[in-house]
Amino acid sequence: MTPVQPPFPALRFRRLRRSAALRALAQEHVLGVGDLIWPLFVRDGVGVEEPVASMPGVARLSIDKIVRAAEEAAALGIPAVCLFPYTDPSLRTETCEEAWNPENLANRAIRAIKAAVPEIAVMTDIALDPYNANGHDGLVRDGVILNDESVEALVRMALAQAEAGADILGPSDMMDGRIGAMRQALEAAGHKDVAILSYSAKYASAFYGPFRDAVGASGRLVGDKKTYQMNPGNADEALRLVARDLAEGADMVMVKPGLPYLDICRRVKDAFGAPTYAYQVSGEYAMIRGAADRGWIDGEKAMMESLLAFKRAGCDGILTYFAPQAARLLRQL
Ligand code: PBG
Repeated sequence: MTPVQPPFPALRFRRLRRSAALRALAQEHVLGVGDLIWPLFVRDGVGVEEPVASMPGVARLSIDKIVRAAEEAAALGIPAVCLFPYTDPSLRTETCEEAWNPENLANRAIRAIKAAVPEIAVMTDIALDPYNANGHDGLVRDGVILNDESVEALVRMALAQAEAGADILGPSDMMDGRIGAMRQALEAAGHKDVAILSYSAKYASAFYGPFRDAVGASGRLVGDKKTYQMNPGNADEALRLVARDLAEGADMVMVKPGLPYLDICRRVKDAFGAPTYAYQVSGEYAMIRGAADRGWIDGEKAMMESLLAFKRAGCDGILTYFAPQAARLLRQL
């Protein structure tokens, strides 16, 4: 687009910045409550709310409290929550079978939310790390993260979540071939309307640190995730991954982390026009919140500016731990 522009003084950009009314009329992108997906950490117990030290304002919640949170989200107009389990250490094994246990924490939480607040969409996480003794997203043998064997496990996990009533499955594991395998298994099992939001372009990032604390994977992780998550130096590869996942049956795609990868969001949206999401990850949340708590930045303004940036970059929605705060501000509650 090449705008036709007269020279100064015919053109004065400040004319449309003069008042709040004119600024609102000229605004190109807006954030709405309907753009937000709220990630929640679920743990065992009743009435438990256990703060996550590296994410001030975020807590691991027992299922009864998760249901309250889902009700709060629905009342605010937030369309979806996304569940991440903190699995008891005794259930973390090398073979990860707890991941597809129909009665595991995540699946019980899905059922509880869908029973109490059926209108809210429940998104899940598909990866083995919360169940894996070594903290990896896939099965490990002799120090190698196995692809095809992991995909089989992930498909079992996907089916158990669909069975529990999940609306959106979120494979965050970055194994190759998982989307096609899941889509085929879902169709075969009659779960034809379960959506897949693929973490297509997920980078091996330092910004996941606080999340790994929250799900109890930090101390366990042996090595790093660079053999399956993307190299932060790559951009064209993200487009190839998104193309692949859409071709295999993903309904929605994600770029993760968020703010450091807005260029990827824009390119993905422009290239495919598919429903595109970004994950404002735990480290991004911690940076904004940590600086705000010290009085170094205005937390509310920085939060809203960062969320608007995703809309400007072409995203249709954002996974963000700020979801309820942002929703309250947007609705002026
Ligand atoms: C793991 C997973 C991670 C996140 C979501 N799913 C961490 C990782 O890949 O190590 C990160 C989310 C966040 O940092 O907020 N399957």
